[in-house]
Amino acid sequence: MPETMNVITIDGPSGVGKSTISRKIAQALGYTYLDTGAMYRAVGLYLVENELDLSDDLAVQGALENIRIELLPSPGENEETRVLLNGVDVSAAIRTPEMAMIASRVSALPLIRARLTALQQDIGAEGCVVAEGRDTGTVVFPSARHKFFLDARPEERARRRVLQLRARGEAVDEQQILQMTLERDKNDRERVIAPLRQAEDALAIDTTNRDIDEVAALVLESVRKGSPGRER
Ligand code: DC
Repeated sequence: MPETMNVITIDGPSGVGKSTISRKIAQALGYTYLDTGAMYRAVGLYLVENELDLSDDLAVQGALENIRIELLPSPGENEETRVLLNGVDVSAAIRTPEMAMIASRVSALPLIRARLTALQQDIGAEGCVVAEGRDTGTVVFPSARHKFFLDARPEERARRRVLQLRARGEAVDEQQILQMTLERDKNDRERVIAPLRQAEDALAIDTTNRDIDEVAALVLESVRKGSPGRER
């Protein structure tokens, strides 16, 4: 893949503000926003709805052949990407804490990673993309020109998730969300294939004490200057 392609990668654990920041950066630059987590969530939903055995490679392979995922731009500035699974809008169904855990489990399966990585690379090949996820800077787009790795303390990330879920009218328990956040971090960081980690050439930004606009400004400043990765 050519180094000059206009791909920006934004990786990190859940609750660091990746989605909101990626959307803002994409809007500011007129780029396409690629929410890779939504793809893992959609595949997870299909596997659960069809009661497929995750340890059965043939069943997983068959499922992948029957899955068509479409990502549509979010209708509003603060809304998430719309996701169609075989033509059905699953945007709300995939964004529950339970589906996040399932996505984390299915994302460790080699067949699923291979398929979704290829799909993401096809989208990236068109250029002008802000890709957000866990492995976009390390595995999906290793030659991306600009890479960022966002992180924040787990308690703060869980607090943000709670606010987000409550804003959607869901009754959630803060301790339970913190436990789920820690468990998902562990799964995502310790899996064998494409674990969550900072690319060597990514700029690390700690978002614990920074608001969204501050982080978005840091990212944009770095993209415009073409700065190499370093700690902020
Ligand atoms: O970003 P998210 O919370 O929507 O992601 C849900 C899960 O999907 C996450 O816990 C791990 C997996 N995922 C992944 O393995 N690789 C990505 N590039 C994006 C998400």
